[in-house]
Amino acid sequence: MAAGKGTRLKSRRPKGLHEIGGRALLAHVIDAARTIVPADHIYCVIGHEADSVRAAVEHMGVKFVLQAEQRGTGHALQMVKAEFELRGAEPPANLLVLSGDVPLIKPDTIRALMEFHSSERAAMTILTAIPPDPTGYGRVLRRAAESSEVRAIVEQKDLKPADDSAEINSGIYCFDTAALFSNLERLTDKNASGEFYLTDIASLLVSEGKRVVATVAPHIDEVLGANTIAEMMHLDAAMRLATARRLMAAGVTIFRPETCVIDAAVEVAPDTVIEPFVQLLGNTRIGSDCRIRSYSVIQNSAIGSGVLIRNGCILDEAIVGDGALLGPYAHLRPGSDIGPQAHIGNFVETKKVRMGRGSKANHLTYLGDAIIGSGTNIGAGAITCNYDGVHKHITNIGDNVFVGSDSTLIAPVTLGDGAYVAAGSCITENVPPDSLALGRSRQTTKEGWVAARKARKASS
Ligand code: UD1
Ligand code: CA
Repeated sequence: MAAGKGTRLKSRRPKGLHEIGGRALLAHVIDAARTIVPADHIYCVIGHEADSVRAAVEHMGVKFVLQAEQRGTGHALQMVKAEFELRGAEPPANLLVLSGDVPLIKPDTIRALMEFHSSERAAMTILTAIPPDPTGYGRVLRRAAESSEVRAIVEQKDLKPADDSAEINSGIYCFDTAALFSNLERLTDKNASGEFYLTDIASLLVSEGKRVVATVAPHIDEVLGANTIAEMMHLDAAMRLATARRLMAAGVTIFRPETCVIDAAVEVAPDTVIEPFVQLLGNTRIGSDCRIRSYSVIQNSAIGSGVLIRNGCILDEAIVGDGALLGPYAHLRPGSDIGPQAHIGNFVETKKVRMGRGSKANHLTYLGDAIIGSGTNIGAGAITCNYDGVHKHITNIGDNVFVGSDSTLIAPVTLGDGAYVAAGSCITENVPPDSLALGRSRQTTKEGWVAARKARKASS
């Protein structure tokens, strides 16, 4: 169910598309469901901002049911039933219902819920929890303290003091489909919210003599919902801490893991050290024996082993070879492929650059659309002028080239292997291998000029 407005978020973005752990809430839920059933057995109920929600998760292979007007979770299931009727399709014997805003649910827990449902021969099985503070959740009322049987679920807004219970409804259920579908039309919206509550199905089934049972989830975080941004950030922190723990358990040292932002899909090899306030995002892969210093933000990048990334580097879609050294404050933009043992130093920006083994650009440089060989040294402040205002052009720099400081290389241009460019040159023509190019005006020195001027000023 992901059709709701998410009013309590106070956000224009639909709730299911808000991210935790670097992924949309809804994508987490669909992923959990996909480990249980094939994607095309999953029906995603959409409504509020349906087009953008659909576009964001369509690639996951699920089907969609439109709930054009969002009149409650019971109404959402009425739409699912109508979809089966419209298609003339036979619904499955059992139906698992997940909430689009309960994203940390684990496949193992869903499996255990389904097993409990069938072993109990229940018409409805509710996954529950007993959190420190149940405020805001629907409460599950059992028949008796130790009984697995439930008599009703009461929503927070409709709660009477006598009905208070510490056990909350997670919004995750298993149903006997026939029992659910035959009771959906009996729901009413005569309640504090004026909505058709799916939760009311529990007491309707009980009144028919059907069996409704509940089972407590093994971990409370798994069933926490995200109704507000603060609740969502609580789940985000829980998810990222779980990722940090997974990496630490595999031999990665993370100082102050609570300060790091690490997406769920990130992989890091053992003996790498991650300092506080590092962000590792997307599908970043990092080898062993690296050190990632504070304030670096690394996204969708592949880092080899033994790499030192000093403070404040920003990497996006970059590849970095073994033993390379970056930063502080290096900016590797998409398409940067930095070879083993290479150095990219302070305030160096790279984009679509292939740099060979052991080459260095240590200070204040822009390298864009360039192919650089191995053992080459790019001096401080050197710039590839890759853009003529209309097109981008390639700078080709061979092996063991020396580019003097503050040189501008006007692309397209090639510097052959072993070439030398004098500092301060503006290079517009190809430089053959092992040649020296000077592209600067000759210096003029006027000896005694300062003293002569002073003397002139004094006498006037
Ligand atoms: C719901 C449960 C509550 C439970 C809580 C757990 C009901 C009536 N209450 O309350 O017992 O403790 O979840 O998190 O079900 N949705 C639709 N269509 C709608 C309304 C909602 O698809 O018309 C979707 C929402 O997008 C959301 C989910 O259903 O993903 C739950 O809706 P929400 O309004 O958040 O329900 P809660 O008030 O949290
Ligand atoms: Ca909710």
